[in-house]
Amino acid sequence: MDWQRNITEEERRKFRDLRRQSIFCLPDLVPVYFLDDIIVLIYLNVDCLKSEYWMVIVIYSMPYFVNKQDSRFAFIVEVCFYFIKSYLNNLIMKILVIGGTGLVGKGVSKKLESMGNEVIIGASSSGINILTGEGLTQALTGTEVVIDLSNSQSPDDQIALDFFRTGSKNLIGAEKLAHIKHHLVLSIVGTDRAQHIGYLQAKKYQEDAVIESGIPYTVIRSTQFHEHVSTIIAVQGEGRNVHVSTIDYQPIALQDVVDYVVMFALEQPKNKIVEIAGPDCGLMNNFVENYLKVKGEDKVVVSNQDDKYMFYSMPKSGLVPSGDFYPGKIRFDDWIKNS
Ligand SMILES: NC(=O)c1ccc[n+]([C@@H]2O[C@H](COP(=O)([O-])OP(=O)(O)OC[C@H]3O[C@@H](n4cnc5c(N)ncnc54)[C@H](OP(=O)(O)O)[C@@H]3O)[C@@H](O)[C@H]2O)c1
Repeated sequence: MDWQRNITEEERRKFRDLRRQSIFCLPDLVPVYFLDDIIVLIYLNVDCLKSEYWMVIVIYSMPYFVNKQDSRFAFIVEVCFYFIKSYLNNLIMKILVIGGTGLVGKGVSKKLESMGNEVIIGASSSGINILTGEGLTQALTGTEVVIDLSNSQSPDDQIALDFFRTGSKNLIGAEKLAHIKHHLVLSIVGTDRAQHIGYLQAKKYQEDAVIESGIPYTVIRSTQFHEHVSTIIAVQGEGRNVHVSTIDYQPIALQDVVDYVVMFALEQPKNKIVEIAGPDCGLMNNFVENYLKVKGEDKVVVSNQDDKYMFYSMPKSGLVPSGDFYPGKIRFDDWIKNS
């Protein structure tokens, strides 16, 4: 074999024909006109940073060295690589997790990363701010999926409304320019049934912003987390007494929420609202009572029937799914024992 010879016109034509059949978009082959086979290979290797491209180019070129007539072999190899690459691309995605340093966001980012995905942590503390727009364009470059797990500094009505309005507007505006393929947002079961609460008005705004955006989406509405029980005790407590209503309650473990967010993020957009909830549905006072008992805390639940949650009036079944939902695996009782 003559490693130093120049590529002939005939070989160049074959190479171009083969390239036309190619499913891969190979880099410009202009240097083929001037350099010999080896230099072309080196050039392509340098230019193609992705290793699977490099391997395709090497194998793809083999018939030119071994048997210049057999372009079928190269084509078959190329098709095989196409499927391998498509498979890898489906498994490995670039995902921006807005709120990636938060309670849910931390778990979601960690799990996605452990599965080999490229995860960008979106948080003001990491230079990506949905209120000011700082860092958004760069973070969205090459990103396929955006998961919005951001939260306002405070649940106060006006602060939450300002946060979710401005944040959603900036984020979705930037996503449209970046042609994002899937936007997920974590919302709350009952959001549409309790619009007299400012925080839930803000969450509805956040949901509607993506539903109306034209970007493929999945809105995940979750019930309260198991972990939230300590907040109920703190907020609704008064000395030894904890005032809890007999409202319907169906909490879900944070780990189940993380698992569902990751699952939906890696699936095709649902383009609808899906709901997730814990495996057990009961009365809120019973859940809190059970928690205090198992933990041996020196507090007692004082039940009432005012259907209030965190001092807000709610419809009796306003916090639980009204239709189909995806159930969590971790039961509240088991979670208490392990928490
Ligand atoms: N907790 C529940 O029971 C529950 C139930 C259902 C749904 N949800 C929803 O789940 C979402 C996440 O809740 P969470 O409890 O995980 O929130 P969290 O712990 O309060 O975390 C909030 C995240 O948002 C980020 N963030 C705040 N301002 C930002 C800004 N301007 N730009 C970019 N990032 C910003 C924070 O990072 P920096 O501070 O660094 O910016 C942090 O990573 C919320 O939307 C909530 O409504 C919660």
